[in-house]
Amino acid sequence: MSLKIALTKGRTEKQVVPLLEAGGIDCTAIRNKGRRLIFNELPDFHFILAKGPDVLTYLNNGAVDVGIVGSDILVEQRNPQYDMLDLGVGKCRFVMASTPDFNPNQTKRKIIATKYPNITQDYFEKIGEDVEIIRIEGSVELAPLVGLADAIVDIVETGTTLKENNLRVYAELQPVSTQLVVNRIALKQKRDAVYDLIQRLQQAKQVEA
Ligand code: PRP
Repeated sequence: MSLKIALTKGRTEKQVVPLLEAGGIDCTAIRNKGRRLIFNELPDFHFILAKGPDVLTYLNNGAVDVGIVGSDILVEQRNPQYDMLDLGVGKCRFVMASTPDFNPNQTKRKIIATKYPNITQDYFEKIGEDVEIIRIEGSVELAPLVGLADAIVDIVETGTTLKENNLRVYAELQPVSTQLVVNRIALKQKRDAVYDLIQRLQQAKQVEA
């Protein structure tokens, strides 16, 4: 019985494919994928490529056994499955950022724009501040620049996007990295295959480090 794995396409896919290969899993088909989304040619590992939030949906519904996805999505969607391994790639962090004239101690209730309302809510609850959250789908950096929000909560990797849009970091929230997550039932039914994959990736991580 093969292990079904949903891999987040794009940046995560590019960083994880070399790890899978270092773990002895042939990813030639994924490397030459064109527009294909499903890869069933290996006997032991079947892959699908999906967007991050959808990886978790496939995992929660049992359509796949394993998901490879960023912790940003796992935390935001309150992942109910087993987070088994930090793959050590896709490292970035959540920050609160805004324009240079932003005053983090302003008395007026802040408006925060973000793609991650739960993470934002949790952070401000933790620091005991009541804020209004506006959900934005992407390029969140625009919101404080055009006066839609006082600040943003977003992911920073290199810092280039903030810098090129003249935004500054006002608070560090939490780190992000790519995780291997396993469906609860799959962990029981395909235990050996799951642990074989984890062992391969753990070894590959050490080789790459
Ligand atoms: C992410 C994030 C920032 C950017 C940060 O956006 O939301 O905009 O990357 O990266 P940097 O610090 O290296 O500049 P992404 O490219 O995923 O697109 P999005 O804005 O559509 O979410």
